Amino acid sequence: MDATARNGAGTGRRRQDEVYRAGVYGRRPRVPTVHTALAAAARRRLTDRALGYVAGGAGGEATVRADRAAFDRWQVVPRVLRDVSSRDTSVELFGRRLPAPLLLGPVGALELVHREADLAVARAAAATGVPMVFSNQASVPLETTAAAMGDAPRWMQLYWSTSDELVESLLHRAERAGCEAVVVTLDTTMLGWRPRDLDLGHLPFALGKGIAQYTSDPVFRRLVEERVATAAPQGRQPLPTPAAVRALVGMAKAWPGSLADNLRSPLPRAAVETFLAIYSRPSITWDDLAWLRSRTSLPLVLKGVLHPDDARRAVDAGVDGLVVSTHGGRQVDRSIGALDALPDVVAAVGDRVPVLLDSGVRSGADVLVATALGARACLLGRSYVYGLGLAGEPGVRQVVEDVVGEFDLTLGLTGHTAVDQLTPEVLRRA
Ligand SMILES: Cc1cc2nc3c(=O)[nH]c(=O)nc-3n(C[C@H](O)[C@H](O)[C@H](O)COP(=O)(O)O)c2cc1C
Repeated sequence: MDATARNGAGTGRRRQDEVYRAGVYGRRPRVPTVHTALAAAARRRLTDRALGYVAGGAGGEATVRADRAAFDRWQVVPRVLRDVSSRDTSVELFGRRLPAPLLLGPVGALELVHREADLAVARAAAATGVPMVFSNQASVPLETTAAAMGDAPRWMQLYWSTSDELVESLLHRAERAGCEAVVVTLDTTMLGWRPRDLDLGHLPFALGKGIAQYTSDPVFRRLVEERVATAAPQGRQPLPTPAAVRALVGMAKAWPGSLADNLRSPLPRAAVETFLAIYSRPSITWDDLAWLRSRTSLPLVLKGVLHPDDARRAVDAGVDGLVVSTHGGRQVDRSIGALDALPDVVAAVGDRVPVLLDSGVRSGADVLVATALGARACLLGRSYVYGLGLAGEPGVRQVVEDVVGEFDLTLGLTGHTAVDQLTPEVLRRA
């Protein structure tokens, strides 16, 4: 047996080697490797508005805490003297083998934390092979982001607009851009009550941030032009703040035509108003799901499912996957933590469709606990956003490599060599 082939090399060992070898020359990782330090560094770096939007949750943020507390209630019971020298962290999802049970979840308005926004995340995702889920509220049109990824896997997240035509247009654009699944987020039929943003009077979308999927869409543009054509002339308005003016210039640049003409035209402001009027449809019910199902052949994944009855009903309705999620605690205060909801959802759907989990995932050990409880994969949210804010693309890449590396080592150190060996028997209630 070749000694180096049996030394446990894998993503975890490689990541450690890289860090410790660089340390000999005085180099440290670009961003902290543990989430609490990462979040603290981001708190120092980000603007108040960016931090409020990213870190904030609904109401008193009890759900943000519940998402973490749910992980703290589980402990892993390691096993010894098993050959763990070679490990396989990969999982299969919708016909694709992924390097680890991990995806980058959809996060909107990334331009608040870094000017390269979705593009930096896309490059980091492509470099690591971890799929990126494009947000419906992205800062960069999905075609541009997809073009930065080569053949690397990407999914599209959709909010259910009041315009069926817009929903169809976004679906078709996602298909053409090579997205391999559509994630429909159901927990945001209205924006949650978010005191940090309310106290700053700050909604990125009202400033034209995070609406690039819309302003790049032909159906949306037509809706804006119709709104302008039928709108009554506006009376005198108070002057917008300098930040709002800067945002308006950004939007005017995104619109076809010259910047000067666009700034004079009512289009950018009307785009924001049109977005606010149509972005979500609180009236959707189970009956609408069939319509969506019939509009795309891509796997359909419902995000934001927490009740086992909803999970069962979703699978009966023909969806292909679920994401158990509290939206990072941003929608309902005092909700059940996502990981607390996971076992019942998994029991309800059995192995009929894959169940994914996000909200509160901070480390490779967290991913191991969630997969042991039946999640096929986890989605990262704030962790990679902080990496982006601190160091752009390399920051995101490091966060992903750290989580995957720790997952690989924890898998081996608990006596396992493959993800499908992880079952609830690996865990104990704390
Ligand atoms: C700043 C921010 C923006 C988000 N934007 C979206 C979005 O556009 N669409 C969506 O489905 N989820 C969105 N989410 C929710 C994430 O996809 C994910 O559910 C959540 O971040 C997971 O929790 P975590 O941040 O605690 O890991 C957003 C989350 C954050 C923090």
